[in-house]
This record gives sequence, C-alpha cells and structure tokens, in this order.
Amino acid sequence: MEQFRRFRRLRSSEAMRSLVRENRLSVSDLIYPVFVVAGEDQVNPIPSMPGICQYSIDRLHEEMDRVKEAKIPAVLLFGIPDHKDEVGSGAYDCHGITQEAIRYIKKNYPQILVIADVCLCEYTSHGHCGLVDHETGEVKNDETLPLLAKMAVSCAKAGADIVAPSDMMDGRVSALREALDENGCVNTPILAYSAKFASAYYGPFREAAESAPKFGDRRSYQMDPANGREAMREIEDDILEGADMIIVKPAMAYLDIMKEARERFDVPFIAYNVSGEYSMIKAAQQMGWVDGKRLTLETLTGMKRAGADRIITYHALEVARWLKEE
Ligand code: PBG
Ligand code: ZN
Repeated sequence: MEQFRRFRRLRSSEAMRSLVRENRLSVSDLIYPVFVVAGEDQVNPIPSMPGICQYSIDRLHEEMDRVKEAKIPAVLLFGIPDHKDEVGSGAYDCHGITQEAIRYIKKNYPQILVIADVCLCEYTSHGHCGLVDHETGEVKNDETLPLLAKMAVSCAKAGADIVAPSDMMDGRVSALREALDENGCVNTPILAYSAKFASAYYGPFREAAESAPKFGDRRSYQMDPANGREAMREIEDDILEGADMIIVKPAMAYLDIMKEARERFDVPFIAYNVSGEYSMIKAAQQMGWVDGKRLTLETLTGMKRAGADRIITYHALEVARWLKEE
C-alpha cells in the first residue's frame, strides 16, 4: 500500500483536468469599462493601456459592436466632459456626456447592461471625487452627497441599468438610495465600490479618464491598503445602507478581501481588475517577458477562485475571443 496519494492521476490530460476543474472563466463573468469622451470623431488611444481608447458618441458604435459581438453582458461607463468646474456640474447635467452615452447605448444596444460609474473626479477642475474646501483643501463629505445623488438619478433617468458610486464618501449609498426612490427609480440597483483602496494601480486610469487630482491624493477618502478588517466594516455598512452588489478594488493585491467578504456576506461580489493591473501585463508582454494570454486567464481565474462572482476588466474583449477559440 502506497504512503502517498496520486494527485497526478487527475492531471493526465486536458480532458481529465477539465473534468475536475473547480472554477471556470466565462464570458458572462465579464464587465467591460468604456470611456466616452465629449466631442466628435474621437477615438483616442490611451498610451498606458494598449488596446483601450476613449470614444466620442458618434464613434462609440465601433467599440459597442465589438462588445455585442463578443456577447459581453455589461459595460461600465466613464464619461470625460469637455469642461470641468469646481463643483463638477457636468456629472449631474441631464445632457452630460455620461447621460447622453447611456441614452445612445440603451437605444442601440438594449440587450447590453449599462452600469454608470457615479463620481465627480472626471468633472471637477481639481480632480477630486467630492467638493473641496478652499481654505483647508479638505474633500467635503456631506456636501458632496447630494451631488452624487443627483448624478445617480440623472443616469438612472437616462436609462442606466445600474449605478455604481466610486467616490468613497461616507453615507453615499443611503443618499443615492433615497434619491433614486424619491425620483421613481426604486428598481435601479446600486453597485457600491465598498472596499476601494487608495492605490497606485489606478495610475493609467487617471490618464484614460483625465481624472488625476491636481493637488494632494485620495488617501483621506479611499481606504488604506493595509486594512483588511476595516474593509469588512465598509462592506457591511454599504449593505445596510442598501447596496445591492459590492465591488472590491483593486483585485490582484486584494484577493484576501474578496475571499473573506465572500464568506461573510451573501450579496453578489465583483472584482475590479484595475487599469494598472492591466497595464502591467501588457507591458511585460510587450517586453516579451511573459505569455500575456496565459497570464491574463490565470489572473482572472484567481479572482473567481477567491470568490468573485463577476469581474470588471479591460481584458474583457480579448478574453471573450480567447474563450471562443478554445
Ligand atoms: C474614480 C475611479 C477610479 C477608478 C474607477 N473610478 C480612479 C480613482 O479612484 O482615482 C479606477 C479604475 C482603474 O484604475 O481601472 N472614482
Ligand atoms: Zn472619483
């Protein structure tokens, strides 16, 4: 009688490995971020994110046709307005860039779910996610809430299927829920970025969304990367305030948060595989140092293994293609 187990029996062929595979990535897991820019005839590549561009609405069909063809179920929309101001008025303008993009997509691609990112940083001249106190430079919490709520309502009214607050102000989920309910949007779900860390991984995104803060950083509102237990409190509070689904962000360096949250709470969890995670793989691949396809699939599979129900990823289009080829 042997004194060890033969795990290798179940690894003998692809068919055998497939038979016992615990987690599988599928195209229905994917949510694709899309950047929509004001103006006309714009397709602007983001240098730090190969393959990702900003699109003006008149050329958005180029990207949305690919999303539809790939059968990706949902997009996460970020709008880049043509002008910014102190109070981010473009964010809650009924005819703002995000609201118009939502109308365009829901009219032409009704089967694709539109998730509207709700935050002020793309729309404020200072680049912060909330209103700024001139004297102290502080990002004001309670004063920001009504503006976020207005943005959420205007996006829902434009046809957004889901609103996703990413600002990290305290109390924003209840502020959004209340405003949505009062304005006839009781059926619009809130996908809360609950565990959102102050991360260097957002660097390329800020180029894509033109949303880098002009002074200071976001550490007074986004979470400290060192804190795991605090993430559970953030998530718990957002669920109590009425969040229907939760995002953990970034993904790769925070899989422990995903795993623990998945075990503790019974709501859908979504991992945000952020811009810097995407750019690192692309850069290493361009150097010829890694197999980009395998690295991407392994990375996203790890997120599912950690407990993510769905994944927001810039890799969505290529992953959909690879999964189809298999
Ligand atoms: C803005 C926002 C950010 C991301 C999504 N919404 C950046 C930030 O907080 O500065 C990051 C996405 C990414 O890096 O892919 N509230
Ligand atoms: Zn923001």
